[in-house]
Amino acid sequence: MEIVTAFPKGFLWGAATSAYQCEGAAAEDGKKDNQQDVINREIHDEYGYADASVASDHYHHYKEDVALMAEMGFTSYRFSINWARVLPDGTGAPNPLGVQFYHNLIDELRAHNIEPVVTMWHYDLPMALVERYGGWASRQIVDDFEYYARFILNEYKDKVKYWLTINEQSIVVNYIDRKNKISPEEKFNPRFRYQANHYMNLAHAKAAIAVHEIVPGGQCGAALDMAPYYPHSCRPEDVMAAKNANAFKNQFYMDAYIKGIYTDSVMAYLKRQGLDFEILPGDMELIKKGSQCFDFLGINYYQSQCVKAPTPGAARRSKQNNKIGKGGHVTYEVQPDLFEGCKNENIGETDFSMPIDPLGLQYVLEDIHDRYHIPLMICENGFGAYDVLEKDGSIHDPYRIAYLREHIKAMKAAIANGVQLIAYNPWSAFDLLSTSNGIAKRYGFVYVDRTDDEVRECKRYRKDSFYWYKNVIATNGKNLE
Ligand code: BG6
Repeated sequence: MEIVTAFPKGFLWGAATSAYQCEGAAAEDGKKDNQQDVINREIHDEYGYADASVASDHYHHYKEDVALMAEMGFTSYRFSINWARVLPDGTGAPNPLGVQFYHNLIDELRAHNIEPVVTMWHYDLPMALVERYGGWASRQIVDDFEYYARFILNEYKDKVKYWLTINEQSIVVNYIDRKNKISPEEKFNPRFRYQANHYMNLAHAKAAIAVHEIVPGGQCGAALDMAPYYPHSCRPEDVMAAKNANAFKNQFYMDAYIKGIYTDSVMAYLKRQGLDFEILPGDMELIKKGSQCFDFLGINYYQSQCVKAPTPGAARRSKQNNKIGKGGHVTYEVQPDLFEGCKNENIGETDFSMPIDPLGLQYVLEDIHDRYHIPLMICENGFGAYDVLEKDGSIHDPYRIAYLREHIKAMKAAIANGVQLIAYNPWSAFDLLSTSNGIAKRYGFVYVDRTDDEVRECKRYRKDSFYWYKNVIATNGKNLE
């Protein structure tokens, strides 16, 4: 039965992007390389995917892109600032043209009554910092992150209220070598990622404190990838594995941001596995202080996960979704003595092996609300697919509409059960570079005409989902048909 509770008045409807995935102009107007520019050039050489040099060419199309957002009725837009565009060397002298670009973008959004939601860091650390000391490998990054955060906060404080410090910290930790330019020694050092995670928590805390100090009425959050972990069966060992996975993959990150503590069971596991990290005097006090400046949690929801008791002796490994757009090609995650991923036979998957589970979103929203009682903002949710541009310029994407519709119903149900949800920013406002499948795997409401091989003019076309979402927004989520 459909739940009819309306979305609250003032609920923010929009969509999300990240800088390196859409801006392009990677070496223009004073910008220097960030690590994603380099990583994506390497991915291009290995797999033939487009790199970040042009991406969706948003840097040159931003006015048109904002006009399309306004046409859909957006009241929010989540985007990230490209650190190396505003501070090409990571710290020190700013780049006036880069700084101006974000003024122009924010002004354009405000002129259309669209609330900017700004991510400070979405995977794209300036290469200058990577070359200087290895980026997240060094404690120096904590101070440099604060320097960058204070710079952009002072610059845009009168125009931006909602700030997200870090995008998907748990994903950065999990896929440390794919999200960061790190040395082979760091890649094969199993403790490295947890030390880097600690530095991220310190950097986040300093940035959160700065939001409250600098921005009048500023609201600080961070966006976490949030997949609930279900037990494969009701065998107590599988249920325990699901509890372990939820603590290890989700709670460990939320507890640090929201409560300013590290989850006991996770810390005990890391110690047993020889993966514990260095905490200096004063660190936990800083993390605690940061948690007192944490106003809302951003949730990136795409899928749920299924786990069972780990196979004895199985080696540690991360999950790998398929890169070829043909379901079934998945390697599941293993954390020795904790959990092992497996297929959930009860739900379907996208062609890229992402389980489709709208009820999982309701589960996550209610579970987090009941534990932490904090406002929640959906910062990503979406359906990646090979869309087809028809000869008449139309793009028929009923699969995306069906996916989004069911997830919005799940949000409604969660709101009816008391969840304080403030915004829906699905991925993505327009087509952009996927982190794993180039430009061919698309998520946008607007089609960007380019391929991995050919940049073309990046002309924009409205997809069927564009018109559908426009109607959803116009009725504040009442009409989902
Ligand atoms: C999220 C990231 O994990 O998922 C985005 O924050 C990313 O940057 C999105 O694009 C979709 O994943 P992918 O690999 O299909 O691009």
